[in-house]
Amino acid sequence: MKRRILSGMRPTGRLHIGHLAGALNNWVSLQDSYDCFYMIADWHALMSEYEKPKGTAESSYEMVRDFVAAGLDPEKCVIFIQSQVPEHLELAMVFSDLTPLAWVERCPTYKEQLREIKGRELTTYGFLGYPILQAADIALYKADAVPVGFDQIPHLELTREIIRKFNGLYNKKVFPEPEPLLTRFPKLLGIDNRKMSKSYANFIALSDTPEAIEKKVAAMITDPARQKLKDKGHPEVCNVFSWFSTFAKPEVKDNVRGWCAGASSGCTECKKSLAKALCAYLEPIRDKRDRLSVSHMECIIKEGQKKARKVAAETMDEVKRLIDFVM
Ligand code: TRP
Repeated sequence: MKRRILSGMRPTGRLHIGHLAGALNNWVSLQDSYDCFYMIADWHALMSEYEKPKGTAESSYEMVRDFVAAGLDPEKCVIFIQSQVPEHLELAMVFSDLTPLAWVERCPTYKEQLREIKGRELTTYGFLGYPILQAADIALYKADAVPVGFDQIPHLELTREIIRKFNGLYNKKVFPEPEPLLTRFPKLLGIDNRKMSKSYANFIALSDTPEAIEKKVAAMITDPARQKLKDKGHPEVCNVFSWFSTFAKPEVKDNVRGWCAGASSGCTECKKSLAKALCAYLEPIRDKRDRLSVSHMECIIKEGQKKARKVAAETMDEVKRLIDFVM
């Protein structure tokens, strides 16, 4: 039997190449060797978007399209929308009851978000419970492992603690303790060298046209030590160069390293080459995206919900017996 994994993404806007490089490509590569559940975490999106939730349904839908276009195969993995499986909230309620306040209050991601996200009221009961719902997402499918980026490690640690406590309290090993499957790839920075993020508008979307891609790549920051063409560059500190690793063929990347370090060609040239590589990389994805019909999409979402609910209902049945809700 294959080991089970679950992972999720919040539908807070269009998918960009940071999601692709940091998560989605990894998800695609896991679908043959694991029993995979991939989820659109719309309840998690609402925790930060509740003041202006408009667009969440559309983002969820578009995200499924991007998932499939990027290579997730609905025949091999289950793609579903969290809110279409109400058992997530039921299990989150059970987990809330047994999670000490101190465990969520000390969560570093919570403290960081409160510090970093400005202009939104996030000191809410729901937002504090973010990792509890995440633990429920994972446990509901009895996932053995969770592909995540480094930033999610504290949430996974909390998930393991909650699961240990649950299994201990009811004296039954209901849930496995999931391990993180860390992505090999480091996070891509945005065109302005900050973390690639919707709120900084420094990303390239999967749906961007070649013209938009060229324009954005042309605006990227390069090695600041390289002022003139004859200055030798340092590819290892240049964000443009780091993108070649993900999106260009190794021989192109090696060529570029040579040009830059040997000062034989300039940054404009280099960016043109990157834009070309990126367009070539994204073209088949955009193509596939455009070819996915509405009815096909509906079918994928419905099928995903059905498969996810089947597992979720079984787990909740077991949980409800343990908390003595079933005679
Ligand atoms: N917290 C994750 C993120 O922001 C999204 C998420 C929700 C998730 N539920 C999950 C990831 C369960 C892994 C497993 O990226």
